[in-house]
Amino acid sequence: MKILLIGSGGREHALAWAITASPLCDQLICAPGNAGIAELAECVPVGIENIDGLVKLAVERKVDFVVVGPEGPLVEGVADQLRDKGFKVFGPSQLAAQLEGSKGFTKDICAKYNIPTGAYGKFTALQPALDYLHKQGAPIVVKADGLAAGKGVTVAMNVAEAEAALRACFDGQFGQAGAKVVIEEFLDGEEASFFALCDGTHAVALAAAQDHKRVGDGDTGPNTGGMGSYSPAPVLDETMAARVMREIIHPTLRGMAQEGCKFQGVLFAGLMIGKDGPKLIEYNVRFGDPECQSLMLRLKSDLLTALIASADGALKDFDLRWRDDCAITVVMAANGYPGDYQKNTEIKGLDQAATVPGVTIFHAGTKRGGDGRLLANGGRVLNISALGHDINEARARAYEAINRIDWPEGFCRRDIGWRALAARK
Ligand code: AMP
Ligand code: GLY
Repeated sequence: MKILLIGSGGREHALAWAITASPLCDQLICAPGNAGIAELAECVPVGIENIDGLVKLAVERKVDFVVVGPEGPLVEGVADQLRDKGFKVFGPSQLAAQLEGSKGFTKDICAKYNIPTGAYGKFTALQPALDYLHKQGAPIVVKADGLAAGKGVTVAMNVAEAEAALRACFDGQFGQAGAKVVIEEFLDGEEASFFALCDGTHAVALAAAQDHKRVGDGDTGPNTGGMGSYSPAPVLDETMAARVMREIIHPTLRGMAQEGCKFQGVLFAGLMIGKDGPKLIEYNVRFGDPECQSLMLRLKSDLLTALIASADGALKDFDLRWRDDCAITVVMAANGYPGDYQKNTEIKGLDQAATVPGVTIFHAGTKRGGDGRLLANGGRVLNISALGHDINEARARAYEAINRIDWPEGFCRRDIGWRALAARK
């Protein structure tokens, strides 16, 4: 099969790694890809925001299957446009992608289909939002309705902070994404990411993972796209996973079908596991980054077969096998991230690092210089992923590899996996 993969991050490198390992994959094309993906696939410089260009590429290259990595093109309807042209696609329709594209849409689905989540109000103007806030008090959470590159959520510990967040939304700080606002009950507990492969009707649980969103050790400093991940997540054992499928994933699939927007693709539930069990914080309609990197290391089954079964509506009785091992992913980012950072700094030592047993390196923001040197080309730059018998071994291997990487302009967190380690004690 000839496959087109859309995206350019560490998630897509991990997907490319798993797809090209499948006997079904004859050729992989990636748009736009990165320097790591270029070792596995032909990279074509069409950006993920160029929906017409992506569709044109699929037509010109007569691909057999398209896998969409990031949420942006899904929310813009790339899957529908490709399906209209007769392509088989892994990824939800534009209507179904509203589960990530509109927080208010998701909250309404939860309310209508009895899916456990925090109490909420939806607003399109400041005054009624302020009135609701003053009635509820703090702590409370303010969310821009649309996609805001991970910056649209404020967990406010007091009313003044929440007021400021509301004003920022309605002043247009998040553009259209903030024209509608959701105010949500603050949920207490431990966060975990749960992934389920869906074919519109059936769902197969993937594995659970946890990520570290804050930039600094000890989960301090500003939020990022994710500085590391590990799988499995101790807080989401088999019993809890079964409960999440029963109480959250299956009702969502049934609800989406009833609403006329069947969900096909990977459903990524951001959960808060609290005293009363799991509650939904938010949905994403794609694999998590860097959760995907850890999941792919643990997946024993053929990923491509699973993605095709999802696109074909054939997940009934589908089974996936996983390694019992633990996987960890440590993100290396450019100094300064998530603020301003330098580009085009040289990275050396990856070959040495990759020889540490159990280690696989996935690229995110990298490119090749004209002279073949490997250069940093983004905020999150490398993912050092490792398998081990337990979280301790996986973690030691990842950091051993990092110690061999020569990139003075980059940094990483030194405590990825601390929660899983604490759970073992
Ligand atoms: P998001 O940008 O939607 O991923 O949200 C960022 C983070 O805000 C989440 O990972 C949670 O840590 C936190 N958060 C979002 N909603 C809530 C909530 N209702 N209660 C507590 N924390 C929340
Ligand atoms: N790591 C969180 C995300 O992909 O949204």
